[in-house]
Amino acid sequence: MRVGILGSGLMGGKLGTLFARAGHEVVFSYARRTEKLKRLAKDAKGNARAGTPHEAAQDADALLLAVHWSRIDDVLSQTGDLSGKVIVTCSLPMNADDTGLVIGHTSSGAEALGKRVPKARVVCAFNTVPSEVLFDVYEARRKARRPGLVYCGDDARSKEVAAALIRDVGFDPVDAGPLRIARYTEPFALLVAQLAYEGNEGPELAYRFERFGVERR
Ligand SMILES: NC(=O)c1ccc[n+]([C@@H]2O[C@H](COP(=O)([O-])OP(=O)(O)OC[C@H]3O[C@@H](n4cnc5c(N)ncnc54)[C@H](OP(=O)(O)O)[C@@H]3O)[C@@H](O)[C@H]2O)c1
Repeated sequence: MRVGILGSGLMGGKLGTLFARAGHEVVFSYARRTEKLKRLAKDAKGNARAGTPHEAAQDADALLLAVHWSRIDDVLSQTGDLSGKVIVTCSLPMNADDTGLVIGHTSSGAEALGKRVPKARVVCAFNTVPSEVLFDVYEARRKARRPGLVYCGDDARSKEVAAALIRDVGFDPVDAGPLRIARYTEPFALLVAQLAYEGNEGPELAYRFERFGVERR
């Protein structure tokens, strides 16, 4: 597939690199400096290049949206028409200082995005995983047991695209249902992020987590 990366930071940079290594054609876009996009493309060691959001969106089979919630309007204003495009969003609807969600319970960031670009086909995926584990999951992708990764959306074809990308990165795609399920996965994703970054000071979760890249004792 041709995959456009909108937001080449922690998530977009790593996922774009892995999509390129998995054999997709990747265009990295939207960073503060073009040199960074060029470096990502070079380091990806696959079919990858740097471009503008417009170039990333052009002829893309899928777009990964990986920007801070406050940058969504800005990046979308640079892509051009997104009618019919598959947008896989991992962007969480976070407030400016990243302490809480600005949408929840009765809607979700994914649904708000769907309303923002009504002619695009939005799938919500990858937001439940901290970027730090992505490379280790990819390295372990040939193992019999893969970690599950939930995704949700309303359009069957775009969900197939998202599931293929999830699989290529090394996860087992778990279809959580329609896009409105993001109302539940987004708060969960926030808890996972807090767990990842705050450690013992973070929230307590009654889930089993498997750590990748950390030796078991
Ligand atoms: N990081 C995670 O583990 C994680 C996990 C789950 C979900 N998410 C969600 O994924 C989304 C992206 O997170 P992230 O951690 O990848 O964020 P990030 O590292 O800050 O990446 C955001 C990207 O946007 C670019 N950007 C910001 N302001 C810009 C501007 N004015 N002009 C051009 N480019 C600009 C940044 O450029 P630079 O590269 O130059 O900084 C960067 O490439 C967020 O919505 C977050 O909630 C993140």
